[in-house]
Formats: sequence, C-alpha cells, structure tokens
Amino acid sequence: MRIAKNIKELNNYTGSNQTIGFVPTMGSLHEGHFSLVKEAILETPLTVVSLFVNPTQFNDKNDLKNYPRNVEYDLSRLDLILRKKDIVFIPDEKEIYPEPDTRTFNFGHLDKIMEGRNRPGHFNGVGQVVSKLFQIVKPTYAFFGEKDLQQLAVIRKLVQMLKIPIIIIGIPIVREPDGLAMSSRNQLLMKNERAEVPKIFKALTKATRLRGKNTVDEVRNKTIEEINKSQFLSVEYFEIVDEIDLLPIKNWDVNTNIFGCIAVKAGKIRVIDNIRF
Ligand code: PAJ
Repeated sequence: MRIAKNIKELNNYTGSNQTIGFVPTMGSLHEGHFSLVKEAILETPLTVVSLFVNPTQFNDKNDLKNYPRNVEYDLSRLDLILRKKDIVFIPDEKEIYPEPDTRTFNFGHLDKIMEGRNRPGHFNGVGQVVSKLFQIVKPTYAFFGEKDLQQLAVIRKLVQMLKIPIIIIGIPIVREPDGLAMSSRNQLLMKNERAEVPKIFKALTKATRLRGKNTVDEVRNKTIEEINKSQFLSVEYFEIVDEIDLLPIKNWDVNTNIFGCIAVKAGKIRVIDNIRF
C-alpha cells in the first residue's frame, strides 16, 4: 500500500480516470472497518482508505479528546489487507480545513431524530468532512457501515442534495462473537460495562421475535425495560423505524423494512446498534 499524508501526494498516486472505491474512517480500525475495506477491494481496481478524526462532528469535547487513536496499528493491519497500489490517506486538520467550515446542511428531519437529537451538530460535521473527502478523493464508490444506519441515510441525502455522482454502498454490521457490534469506542469500556453490553444485541434479537405478537409500543417499552435492568446500562433511545425515513412506525403493517435503532449509555460510553426486524 501507499501512504498519502496530503492532498498533493494523494492526487499524484491516484492520477485521473481511475475507478476509486473509498472507505472513510476515523481510524482505530477493527473488523467492522476491514469488512468495508475488503468489499472495496473486491469491487474496485483502486481503494483509498482515509484515517481522519474529524473534530467538527464531535459535539462533546471530551469525546474528541478521548477518541482512540492507533495509527501505527491501523497501518500495520491495512498493509496486510490492501494491495500494493491501494492508498491510505492520513491528512492533518489543516489539509481538510484550511479555513473553518461554516457550511450548514439541511438534512430535513434526518438529523433531528435519534443520534441527531442526542448529538446536536454531529451530522452537520459528518456532512462537512464527507463532502470534503469526496471532493478530494473523487471516488466512484464509497462504502459505509450499516452500524451507523442514520449516518448512512444522511450520506445518501448529502450526495443527492449536492448532486455528487458517487454510488453509496452500505455494508452489514460486524459483531463480536457475543453479539456486541464492533466499534472503536468499545475499547474504552470498563470491564464490568464490557461484560454487560452484549445484553443490548440479545434484547434487540428478542425484540424482533415479538413482532406481530406485541404492539410496536409494547416491544419498544419491553426492550428498554430489559436493558435498563442492568445497573451498568441506560437506554438513551430505542426507536422502531421504517427504512426509508427512519421515522417511528405505529404498527407492524408497513411496506418497508423495519429497523430497531438503539443508543445505550454504558458508563461514559455511548453504544449504538440496530437490527432489522
Ligand atoms: P468510523 O466510526 O471510524 O467508521 C467508519 C466506517 O466504518 C463507517 O461507515 C461505519 O459505519 C463503519 N463501521 C464501524 N463499525 C462497524 C461495524 N461493526 N460493522 C460494519 N461497519 C462498521 O463513521 C465514521 O467513522 C465517521 O463518521 C466518518 C464517516 C469517517 C466521517 O468522519
């Protein structure tokens, strides 16, 4: 693989007229990220992976400060997966934001529900960095995880609004053997919290089995209750939504896929997950 530390180096490597598959990340990579990278390699002749902890999407300064950073480890793992020609792009902040990005995006209701309501400004920051990275990398395809289902919807809206000709591909959630959705923040969990968080996926799985047997509200409330029984877990939200608008459904009788989207506080760490009903 080749490493580009700035836009000039990246452009030298990519040249023009290349079909690029792009995987944007904030580093501290795990198998979830690698499944995106592997899919990009399968589908495109040239893969670009970016490692950039984007300050504008952190609404909580402590979260930004504590966000895990393991660039050496990331590079050593990527080197085993990427081909010789593929590129890891590691820009510094000045490269992405030579001046402050003051753009605000109108994502409609999409950034006001669930993660948006609990992390004001977060999706605007994601929109800023992803649109900039798209402009710099100029991919044909970009790969995002369904782990962040709402982010995926926001990105789809972003490319549609800005008329960016990039095909967005969603990749299924990769989990630990005990069901916990992989996340860079998992390494920040205390031992007793780590032991409890698999209950989230267990409760989500159980919820899907209650479809049709209980009303949507009943399933929602039961799931929240079940998780909150743990003294280490506290549900921020659990919404049962349709796949198109990510808005809460009132009954099971809808014509789209249904997802249960959840955020749980485990100590200081927020764990987010979702499941398809
Ligand atoms: P980050 O959290 O590093 O995630 C990078 C990509 O990996 C995202 O598309 C995310 O959905 C995906 N991902 C994370 N955990 C996953 C898992 N367990 N299974 C499958 N995919 C998973 O998301 C971001 O970074 C940032 O917001 C970014 C898009 C890079 C913009 O800064």
